[in-house]
Amino acid sequence: MILTVANTKGGVGKTTIALNIAIRHAIAGRDVWLVDGDRQATASNAVAVRCESSRRPSIACSSFSDGGQLRSQVLQQAPKFEEVVIDVGGRDSSALRAALVVTDVLLVPFQPRSYDVWALADIAQLIQEARSVREGLQAFAVLNCADPSGGDNREAAAAVSEYPELAYLDSPLHRRKAFANAAGAGLCVSELKPGDPKADAELTQLLRHLYVTDPHAANGDSSVTCNDGSVIYGDQLMMFSRETPV
Ligand SMILES: Nc1ncnc2c1ncn2[C@@H]1O[C@H](COP(=O)(O)OP(=O)(O)O)[C@@H](O)[C@H]1O
Ligand SMILES: [Mg+2]
Repeated sequence: MILTVANTKGGVGKTTIALNIAIRHAIAGRDVWLVDGDRQATASNAVAVRCESSRRPSIACSSFSDGGQLRSQVLQQAPKFEEVVIDVGGRDSSALRAALVVTDVLLVPFQPRSYDVWALADIAQLIQEARSVREGLQAFAVLNCADPSGGDNREAAAAVSEYPELAYLDSPLHRRKAFANAAGAGLCVSELKPGDPKADAELTQLLRHLYVTDPHAANGDSSVTCNDGSVIYGDQLMMFSRETPV
Protein backbone atom coordinates (compact mmCIF):
# COMPACT_ATOMS: atom_id res chain seq x y z
CA MET A 1 0.00 0.00 0.00
CA ILE A 2 1.15 3.55 -0.66
CA LEU A 3 0.62 5.78 2.37
CA THR A 4 1.26 9.51 2.27
CA VAL A 5 1.64 11.54 5.45
CA ALA A 6 0.90 15.13 4.54
CA ASN A 7 -0.45 18.44 5.69
CA THR A 8 0.13 21.88 4.21
CA LYS A 9 1.01 22.97 7.74
CA GLY A 10 4.53 22.41 9.05
CA GLY A 11 5.47 21.05 12.46
CA VAL A 12 2.43 18.81 12.87
CA GLY A 13 4.49 15.60 13.07
CA LYS A 14 4.44 14.35 9.47
CA THR A 15 8.06 13.24 9.39
CA THR A 16 7.94 11.76 12.89
CA ILE A 17 4.91 9.66 11.97
CA ALA A 18 6.13 8.66 8.50
CA LEU A 19 9.47 7.52 9.92
CA ASN A 20 7.87 5.56 12.76
CA ILE A 21 5.49 3.79 10.40
CA ALA A 22 8.20 2.96 7.87
CA ILE A 23 10.52 1.54 10.52
CA ARG A 24 7.72 -0.53 12.09
CA HIS A 25 7.06 -2.07 8.67
CA ALA A 26 10.74 -2.90 8.32
CA ILE A 27 10.91 -4.43 11.82
CA ALA A 28 7.95 -6.63 10.91
CA GLY A 29 9.84 -7.82 7.84
CA ARG A 30 7.81 -5.84 5.32
CA ASP A 31 9.72 -4.57 2.31
CA VAL A 32 9.33 -0.82 2.75
CA TRP A 33 10.43 2.27 0.84
CA LEU A 34 10.39 5.66 2.54
CA VAL A 35 9.98 8.53 0.07
CA ASP A 36 11.00 11.98 1.28
CA GLY A 37 9.19 14.68 -0.68
CA ASP A 38 10.30 17.55 1.51
CA ARG A 39 13.06 19.88 0.39
CA GLN A 40 14.23 20.06 4.01
CA ALA A 41 14.92 16.31 3.80
CA THR A 42 14.32 15.65 7.50
CA ALA A 43 13.23 12.05 6.89
CA SER A 44 16.31 11.37 4.73
CA ASN A 45 18.54 12.89 7.41
CA ALA A 46 16.95 10.69 10.08
CA VAL A 47 17.53 7.62 7.92
CA ALA A 48 21.16 8.76 7.42
CA VAL A 49 21.58 8.93 11.22
CA ARG A 50 20.14 5.41 11.43
CA CYS A 51 22.50 4.24 8.75
CA GLU A 52 25.55 5.75 10.43
CA SER A 53 24.74 3.90 13.64
CA SER A 54 24.44 0.64 11.60
CA ARG A 55 20.99 0.04 13.06
CA ARG A 56 19.11 -2.92 11.58
CA PRO A 57 16.80 -3.23 9.78
CA SER A 58 18.06 -0.63 7.33
CA ILE A 59 15.51 1.52 5.55
CA ALA A 60 15.34 2.20 1.81
CA CYS A 61 14.86 5.94 1.44
CA SER A 62 14.79 8.29 -1.56
CA SER A 63 14.36 12.02 -1.74
CA PHE A 64 12.38 13.78 -4.50
CA SER A 65 11.37 17.37 -3.87
CA ASP A 66 10.25 17.80 -7.49
CA GLY A 67 6.64 16.69 -7.97
CA GLY A 68 7.09 15.25 -11.48
CA GLN A 69 10.04 13.19 -10.38
CA LEU A 70 8.28 11.95 -7.26
CA ARG A 71 5.22 10.91 -9.26
CA SER A 72 7.10 9.05 -11.98
CA GLN A 73 9.53 7.37 -9.57
CA VAL A 74 6.77 6.21 -7.22
CA LEU A 75 4.71 4.88 -10.13
CA GLN A 76 7.73 2.96 -11.46
CA GLN A 77 9.27 1.72 -8.20
CA ALA A 78 6.30 1.18 -5.85
CA PRO A 79 5.37 -2.25 -7.29
CA LYS A 80 8.80 -3.51 -6.14
CA PHE A 81 7.90 -2.85 -2.50
CA GLU A 82 5.24 -4.18 -0.17
CA GLU A 83 4.87 -0.81 1.50
CA VAL A 84 5.61 2.75 0.44
CA VAL A 85 5.49 5.62 2.92
CA ILE A 86 5.69 9.15 1.52
CA ASP A 87 6.51 12.15 3.71
CA VAL A 88 5.80 15.50 2.07
CA GLY A 89 6.66 19.00 3.17
CA GLY A 90 4.53 21.51 4.96
CA ARG A 91 3.19 23.63 2.13
CA ASP A 92 1.24 23.32 -1.07
CA SER A 93 4.19 21.98 -3.07
CA SER A 94 4.35 20.09 -6.34
CA ALA A 95 5.58 17.07 -4.35
CA LEU A 96 2.47 17.16 -2.17
CA ARG A 97 0.16 17.35 -5.19
CA ALA A 98 2.07 14.54 -6.89
CA ALA A 99 1.85 12.35 -3.79
CA LEU A 100 -1.90 12.88 -3.58
CA VAL A 101 -2.45 11.42 -7.03
CA VAL A 102 -0.32 8.31 -6.52
CA THR A 103 -1.21 7.40 -2.94
CA ASP A 104 -3.79 4.87 -1.76
CA VAL A 105 -4.22 6.40 1.67
CA LEU A 106 -3.51 9.90 2.95
CA LEU A 107 -2.87 10.52 6.62
CA VAL A 108 -3.16 14.13 7.79
CA PRO A 109 -1.71 14.65 11.27
CA PHE A 110 -2.86 17.75 13.11
CA GLN A 111 -2.48 19.06 16.63
CA PRO A 112 -5.37 20.04 18.88
CA ARG A 113 -4.71 23.75 18.38
CA SER A 114 -6.79 26.33 16.47
CA TYR A 115 -4.20 27.06 13.77
CA ASP A 116 -3.93 23.39 12.95
CA VAL A 117 -7.68 22.97 12.75
CA TRP A 118 -8.02 26.02 10.46
CA ALA A 119 -5.29 24.66 8.21
CA LEU A 120 -7.34 21.53 7.50
CA ALA A 121 -9.33 23.61 4.99
CA ASP A 122 -6.26 23.80 2.72
CA ILE A 123 -5.58 20.09 2.64
CA ALA A 124 -9.30 19.35 2.26
CA GLN A 125 -9.31 21.49 -0.88
CA LEU A 126 -6.30 19.61 -2.26
CA ILE A 127 -7.96 16.26 -1.51
CA GLN A 128 -11.02 17.37 -3.42
CA GLU A 129 -8.87 18.30 -6.42
CA ALA A 130 -6.88 15.05 -6.22
CA ARG A 131 -10.07 12.97 -6.12
CA SER A 132 -11.08 14.36 -9.50
CA VAL A 133 -8.13 12.45 -10.98
CA ARG A 134 -7.54 9.80 -8.30
CA GLU A 135 -10.59 7.70 -7.59
CA GLY A 136 -10.68 5.86 -4.29
CA LEU A 137 -8.19 8.06 -2.43
CA GLN A 138 -8.85 7.51 1.27
CA ALA A 139 -8.02 10.44 3.55
CA PHE A 140 -7.82 10.38 7.34
CA ALA A 141 -7.05 13.09 9.87
CA VAL A 142 -5.35 11.98 13.06
CA LEU A 143 -4.49 13.92 16.19
CA ASN A 144 -0.79 14.17 16.94
CA CYS A 145 0.71 15.75 20.05
CA ALA A 146 -2.67 15.25 21.66
CA ASP A 147 -3.02 16.64 25.19
CA PRO A 148 -2.98 14.18 28.10
CA SER A 149 -6.65 14.99 28.66
CA GLY A 150 -9.15 17.79 28.26
CA GLY A 151 -11.60 19.29 25.87
CA ASP A 152 -9.14 20.53 23.23
CA ASN A 153 -8.64 17.03 21.81
CA ARG A 154 -12.38 16.48 21.59
CA GLU A 155 -13.00 19.89 20.01
CA ALA A 156 -10.27 19.39 17.43
CA ALA A 157 -11.58 15.92 16.58
CA ALA A 158 -15.12 17.27 16.20
CA ALA A 159 -13.90 20.03 13.86
CA VAL A 160 -12.83 17.40 11.31
CA SER A 161 -16.51 16.70 10.60
CA GLU A 162 -16.67 20.13 8.92
CA TYR A 163 -14.53 18.66 6.14
CA PRO A 164 -16.33 15.85 4.32
CA GLU A 165 -13.09 15.13 2.42
CA LEU A 166 -11.47 13.86 5.64
CA ALA A 167 -12.48 11.03 7.96
CA TYR A 168 -11.40 11.37 11.58
CA LEU A 169 -9.24 8.43 12.63
CA ASP A 170 -9.72 7.86 16.33
CA SER A 171 -6.20 6.74 17.10
CA PRO A 172 -4.42 9.78 18.55
CA LEU A 173 -0.72 9.99 19.26
CA HIS A 174 -0.14 11.96 22.44
CA ARG A 175 2.68 14.41 23.02
CA ARG A 176 5.42 12.12 24.27
CA LYS A 177 9.17 12.64 24.45
CA ALA A 178 9.63 9.13 23.07
CA PHE A 179 8.29 10.16 19.65
CA ALA A 180 10.61 13.14 19.42
CA ASN A 181 13.66 11.33 20.83
CA ALA A 182 13.24 8.27 18.65
CA ALA A 183 12.74 10.14 15.38
CA GLY A 184 15.75 12.37 16.08
CA ALA A 185 17.93 9.27 16.41
CA GLY A 186 16.51 7.65 13.27
CA LEU A 187 14.57 5.15 15.35
CA CYS A 188 10.96 4.24 15.87
CA VAL A 189 9.52 4.32 19.37
CA SER A 190 9.52 0.51 19.52
CA GLU A 191 13.33 0.56 19.36
CA LEU A 192 13.95 2.99 22.22
CA LYS A 193 15.71 1.71 25.32
CA PRO A 194 14.25 2.25 27.81
CA GLY A 195 11.04 2.03 25.86
CA ASP A 196 7.78 3.88 26.21
CA PRO A 197 5.04 1.22 26.08
CA LYS A 198 2.31 3.84 25.75
CA ALA A 199 3.92 5.45 22.71
CA ASP A 200 4.50 2.00 21.22
CA ALA A 201 0.88 1.00 21.80
CA GLU A 202 -0.35 4.20 20.16
CA LEU A 203 1.78 3.54 17.10
CA THR A 204 0.50 -0.05 16.93
CA GLN A 205 -3.07 1.11 17.10
CA LEU A 206 -2.49 3.69 14.39
CA LEU A 207 -0.99 1.03 12.10
CA ARG A 208 -3.91 -1.26 12.71
CA HIS A 209 -6.41 1.47 11.86
CA LEU A 210 -4.52 2.51 8.75
CA TYR A 211 -3.71 -0.84 7.24
CA VAL A 212 -6.25 -3.41 8.36
CA THR A 213 -9.73 -3.54 6.88
CA ASP A 214 -11.19 -4.59 10.21
CA PRO A 215 -8.79 -3.17 12.82
CA HIS A 216 -10.78 -4.54 15.74
CA ALA A 217 -10.49 -8.11 14.46
CA ALA A 218 -6.71 -7.97 13.97
CA ASN A 219 -5.71 -9.25 17.40
CA GLY A 220 -5.26 -13.00 17.65
CA ASP A 221 -6.00 -13.67 13.98
CA SER A 222 -3.58 -15.71 11.90
CA SER A 223 -3.83 -13.24 9.03
CA VAL A 224 -5.32 -9.84 8.32
CA THR A 225 -6.60 -8.32 5.11
CA CYS A 226 -5.22 -4.88 4.39
CA ASN A 227 -6.93 -1.88 2.87
CA ASP A 228 -5.27 -2.50 -0.50
CA GLY A 229 -6.50 -6.12 -0.57
CA SER A 230 -3.13 -7.66 0.35
CA VAL A 231 -2.95 -10.17 3.18
CA ILE A 232 -0.42 -10.03 6.00
CA TYR A 233 0.29 -13.20 7.96
CA GLY A 234 2.90 -14.97 10.07
CA ASP A 235 5.63 -12.99 11.83
CA GLN A 236 4.68 -9.79 10.00
CA LEU A 237 1.47 -9.66 12.01
CA MET A 238 3.49 -8.55 15.00
CA MET A 239 3.36 -4.98 13.76
CA PHE A 240 -0.31 -5.03 14.70
CA SER A 241 0.18 -6.62 18.11
CA ARG A 242 0.72 -4.79 21.37
CA GLU A 243 4.11 -6.29 22.18
CA THR A 244 6.67 -5.42 19.56
CA PRO A 245 9.83 -7.48 19.96
CA VAL A 246 12.85 -5.65 18.55
N1 LIG B 1 3.71 12.88 19.27
C1 LIG B 1 4.74 13.70 19.49
N2 LIG B 1 5.16 13.94 20.75
C2 LIG B 1 6.20 14.78 21.00
N3 LIG B 1 6.87 15.46 20.05
C3 LIG B 1 6.49 15.28 18.77
C4 LIG B 1 5.42 14.38 18.41
N4 LIG B 1 5.28 14.42 17.05
C5 LIG B 1 6.21 15.27 16.58
N5 LIG B 1 6.94 15.80 17.61
C6 LIG B 1 8.00 16.82 17.51
O1 LIG B 1 7.43 17.96 16.87
C7 LIG B 1 8.37 18.57 15.99
C8 LIG B 1 7.79 18.61 14.58
O2 LIG B 1 7.65 17.26 14.11
P1 LIG B 1 7.95 16.88 12.59
O3 LIG B 1 7.70 15.44 12.47
O4 LIG B 1 9.27 17.39 12.15
O5 LIG B 1 6.79 17.72 11.88
P2 LIG B 1 6.57 18.02 10.32
O6 LIG B 1 7.25 16.96 9.54
O7 LIG B 1 5.09 18.01 10.15
O8 LIG B 1 7.13 19.40 10.07
C9 LIG B 1 9.63 17.76 16.08
O9 LIG B 1 10.47 18.40 17.01
C10 LIG B 1 9.17 16.41 16.62
O10 LIG B 1 10.18 15.77 17.36
MG1 LIG C 1 8.70 17.09 8.07
